[in-house]
Amino acid sequence: MNGDIFLTGCGQTKFGEWWQKSLRDLIEESMTAAIADAKISPLSIDAVIIGNMLGESLSGQAQLGALVSAMLPHRPPALRTEAACASGSVAVHTACALLESKRAETVLVIGAEKMTDADTGFVASALMGAGDSEHDSPCGLTFPGIFGLIAARYMHEYGLTREDLSLVSARHHENAASNPFAQFRSAVTPRAVSESSLVADPLRLLDCSPITDGACAMILSRTHRSALRLRASQIATDTLSLTQRPTMTSFAATRDAFARACEEADITREDIAHLELHDCFSIAALINLEDMGFAEPGAGITLYKNRSADFSINQSGGLKGCGHPVGATGVKQLGDIAKQLKASKQRYGAAHNFGGAGATCCVHILEHTI
Ligand code: COA
Repeated sequence: MNGDIFLTGCGQTKFGEWWQKSLRDLIEESMTAAIADAKISPLSIDAVIIGNMLGESLSGQAQLGALVSAMLPHRPPALRTEAACASGSVAVHTACALLESKRAETVLVIGAEKMTDADTGFVASALMGAGDSEHDSPCGLTFPGIFGLIAARYMHEYGLTREDLSLVSARHHENAASNPFAQFRSAVTPRAVSESSLVADPLRLLDCSPITDGACAMILSRTHRSALRLRASQIATDTLSLTQRPTMTSFAATRDAFARACEEADITREDIAHLELHDCFSIAALINLEDMGFAEPGAGITLYKNRSADFSINQSGGLKGCGHPVGATGVKQLGDIAKQLKASKQRYGAAHNFGGAGATCCVHILEHTI
């Protein structure tokens, strides 16, 4: 990174179904919590970036930059980022660019999404806006359908069983049980995952991240120092359409973003003590672990079977247990890494967030300097 960027404070709403709260309410609640956590004057915020995907289609609200800016006494410059489920991490990346170029000294970053007011079919179709509208959507695909295809192909190539795949969601739900901000706080057995209702063969209800409301905000600053320093912020992309990729069982954007982030931070994957990765569907967790090099292709499940990883994986509960308000997730993952590093007193953690079926991937590496 070009200069020090500190994560000075962070705050989030509980993720879940918030029928009585609007998108604006969720944004304001997270923003207030982040400013309080950072112990700064709101007047020292000189730019705002908000990540959001579905404001227009699900809340009838665009222009979220101006909306947030008007919540602050001095109306700082503000803009919105959109990269589907990676909208939040792309907001963080954009904030880094402003800070590195010295256009800003302190930036408020928010990720927010309000999804539960619409019915599931409408939300699925809105989310499919992140797919390829000429090649994939006309086939009737939704994101559960896309990841169902990916899971079926992965099982065919590597012999992953239904029972093994269920270990992934069971573990993430187990982790979420101790996270007060998670949507689902009850543990589920692998058998319950295998027997939950079929959504997109072979994926079942408990393989899928849910539809969720929530927001997370953070203060990133060059001048308000803290023990948490961003060491890398990298974006990589891939084709929107699955039909244009050489394989369905590996995500090139994950490989590229993670490799570049390690290089930028000047660390190796062995230095990472905590990892929050994008488990929009259980199969995605396995493929992403493999693409980041934590397991050989086809062997990601061993990290769940043997509990053999010497780093934590989705200690927060991940998207599966915490819920996945799409624009909020990328900001919240980095906030979780901050909490985990402070609690464990370890040095490095990584947040991996992707949009669509890995068409945009953003990886951040955070260093705890005490
Ligand atoms: N995990 C765990 N529980 C879930 C759940 C999930 N993903 N989705 C719903 N539930 C629970 C609900 O809380 C509800 O419990 P209750 O009866 O105790 O209240 C029950 O299951 C039924 O919920 P419902 O809302 O009727 O489910 P649904 O069938 O309408 O939707 C999915 C289920 C999986 C289709 C929906 O959550 C979904 O589309 N998820 C994927 C979202 C997505 O694509 N995100 C982008 C990723 S790239």
